[in-house]
Amino acid sequence: MVKIINPFNKKGLTAIDGGLRDEDGKVFPVTNGVPRFVEANNYTDSFGFQWNKFQKTQIDRETKNSTFSKARFFAATNWDKEDLSGKDILEAGSGAGRFTQIVLDHTKGNLYSIDYSDAVSANYRNNAHHGDRLQLFQASIYDMPFPDNSFDKVFCFGVLQHTPDFKKSVQCLVAKAKPGAEIVVDFYPIKGWYTRISAKYMLRPFTKKMSHEKLLGKIDRNANRLIRTYRFFDKLKLGMIAHRFIPMCDINRTLPANLSKEELREWVVLDTFDMFSPAYDNPQRIKTVKKWMEESGAEVQFADFVTYANNLRMAIVRGIKKSK
Ligand SMILES: C[S@@+](CC[C@H](N)C(=O)[O-])C[C@H]1O[C@@H](n2cnc3c(N)ncnc32)[C@H](O)[C@@H]1O
Repeated sequence: MVKIINPFNKKGLTAIDGGLRDEDGKVFPVTNGVPRFVEANNYTDSFGFQWNKFQKTQIDRETKNSTFSKARFFAATNWDKEDLSGKDILEAGSGAGRFTQIVLDHTKGNLYSIDYSDAVSANYRNNAHHGDRLQLFQASIYDMPFPDNSFDKVFCFGVLQHTPDFKKSVQCLVAKAKPGAEIVVDFYPIKGWYTRISAKYMLRPFTKKMSHEKLLGKIDRNANRLIRTYRFFDKLKLGMIAHRFIPMCDINRTLPANLSKEELREWVVLDTFDMFSPAYDNPQRIKTVKKWMEESGAEVQFADFVTYANNLRMAIVRGIKKSK
């Protein structure tokens, strides 16, 4: 059982009607079932908007025969389900809870999950039926409501590139792991000088400032045309050009292969919004993240690409926290 604390002064918290209170009388409200340790608006608002609109899209349980998130989770972590029984696991940046669901449905671990945005409301609706095995908080990776050295396992998927200080984010994750515990992260990799030469990085300076409704509306109205154009280039074996210069997510290299036409459209709209709306998008080299994890006090066991679900690839670094 992990103690829940005020992340700003490290004091213990007691449950009161509608919130959690520390010894000094500071109260953190519980809204839509989730304790909130953040100011109402912050740089992750686009994610709060996105995950509440697309609450079920990427949840395996909600898509017939889907094991996409499960495949990604176990390929990224290489964890043994049985081994997680009774363990305290930290998930940082849970979004709508696609991996929250995997941990809760496929293991007997206790999951402590945080996200800086109001995505936690969507995650709560998706996963609260697991009761006390899920402890969910709206909190930043920089101010998590747990003491250091608390967790047996830590994972953080799809988040680090969207934080303002990637290195500090890695340090904060390692800090919460117990000595001997494993930390696993995935992130957008820099593959070479060409990584940032793409429609995404050319258009983001404008699109990230657009209102979320306007941006989503534009993507939604153009989704069918974008998918047709992508398919056209793909047929001509010019998939890489399609991926780089058509302003949409890369269907072949990021999405599940077995989606229906309607599901594919929904995933494309979601993932394209996810490309163009976040305040931060800072990919990193695998060797840089490895170095940062080592500097944070972990011994890196693995730093490379991992393949899952029909040859999709993700950049992964795994480390074990050293004892001091
Ligand atoms: C692309 S989403 C990934 C969500 C989920 N892990 C998934 O793969 O579906 C990135 C998430 O990181 C969260 N995030 C960004 N900065 C954060 C921070 N400082 N602390 C906690 N979460 C953060 C966002 O709110 C968002 O939900």
